[in-house]
Amino acid sequence: MTFQPNVDDALTINKVEFRFTEHPSAKSMPYGQTGRRATVYQVKAHDGTLYALKVFTQAFRSPRHAENADRLRPFASLPGLEVCERTVTTPQNEKKLVGEHPDLTYAVLMPWVNGETWQEFMLAQHTLTPQQSLELARSLASILANMEQKGIAHCDLSGPNVMLSFFAPSGISQGERIALVDVDDLYASGLPRPEKLPGGSPGYAHKTAPQGLWSAETDRFAGAILLVEMLAWCDQRVRQGAFGEQYFDPAEVQKDSKRYRLLSTVLRERYSTPLAESFSQAWQSETLNDCPPLSKWAELLGASQTPVVTEVAAPEAGFVLPTFKPDFRPIEDIPLPPESPTQPPSPAGAVVLASPTSQGSTSPAIIPGQVSRKSKSRSIVWAWTLVVLFGLAALILGILYVNCPCK
Ligand SMILES: Nc1ncnc2c1ncn2[C@@H]1O[C@H](COP(=O)(O)OP(=O)(O)OP(=O)(O)O)[C@@H](O)[C@H]1O
Ligand SMILES: [Mg+2]
Repeated sequence: MTFQPNVDDALTINKVEFRFTEHPSAKSMPYGQTGRRATVYQVKAHDGTLYALKVFTQAFRSPRHAENADRLRPFASLPGLEVCERTVTTPQNEKKLVGEHPDLTYAVLMPWVNGETWQEFMLAQHTLTPQQSLELARSLASILANMEQKGIAHCDLSGPNVMLSFFAPSGISQGERIALVDVDDLYASGLPRPEKLPGGSPGYAHKTAPQGLWSAETDRFAGAILLVEMLAWCDQRVRQGAFGEQYFDPAEVQKDSKRYRLLSTVLRERYSTPLAESFSQAWQSETLNDCPPLSKWAELLGASQTPVVTEVAAPEAGFVLPTFKPDFRPIEDIPLPPESPTQPPSPAGAVVLASPTSQGSTSPAIIPGQVSRKSKSRSIVWAWTLVVLFGLAALILGILYVNCPCK
């Protein structure tokens, strides 16, 4: 019988008790997300800390997960890879639990990442301001370039495997705005080759992916697609033209299509020709080696100016930023609102943050940034200046009238 926990059911892993939480939008249902290989449940420890419990379907239960846990753990300190911190339940270390629930054989307990996936974000047709698009892409490029530099590749980059903690509560650093999940097939020197090689995800798979990809270059194509999706999502034409769960129809990937041409145009119009050219280099590549390395994207995005504002974002997405071009500052230097007294004001007008729900999940909410408060107080100063000027003019006219010899 398949594992079907109820809300509040308890289970003990490594002598710590965890309870299944309730889905924030489905009463009495445990909070779980099902992927192609597993269901990931949210569980809560006694102290209220949230964890994710990944329960694999039979075909993907493998002792490899347990063997890999120690090898993956050191990567948890890298930006975006916190889920590499993990404990795996095996018939040896959790004899009682696995005996009672055989489906929990080689289940993975890891930190819970707040936020929604990039896929959910696109499906919900949430909008991004141009500044938010750029910040999101910069965060992802920074994570991926850092991994690339260390010889690590995720190997299944796709919308459902990218979490936007960008929308999580304040106090997080730039590097923590995005987190990757589903790291079971990570490539790095010293990690064993998976039994079934990753074949890419629909809409993000390179033409060579069906052969199975597992190398240091594997993220180059899917990473490029994710980055351009984020960069272009601020454009209404792109949002409206999206295929669905991802921007591209899986059948059109690497072909000359209307969506490809629109994305190229948006990149060229809003960002730069080199960015559009990097995208076309990835799109037309025969092998992953022909795609630009991820460091190139980080470099290009670091050098990007704030994109040109050509549209009014929908009210729920934030508000329109003034059309100005702040000096470029490296990714790590961009402050996050709400600003601490020591932080300089954000160049962005608004940042979408999350309002935590009962179960620690998040839903996007808009919190205006400091520029908005500043411009509001600037308007008040202007209004008062005008009132005073009008008053003075009226006074002068009055005096002139009273003293007029023509009377
Ligand atoms: N640590 C986590 N914190 C919060 N949510 C998570 C976490 N890990 C996974 N999820 C959620 O569960 C979903 C499925 O997880 P995951 O991608 O690991 O499963 P999978 O079956 O291997 O997926 P795939 O279909 O990509 O092979 C993710 O898309 C994400 O929404
Ligand atoms: Mg996944």
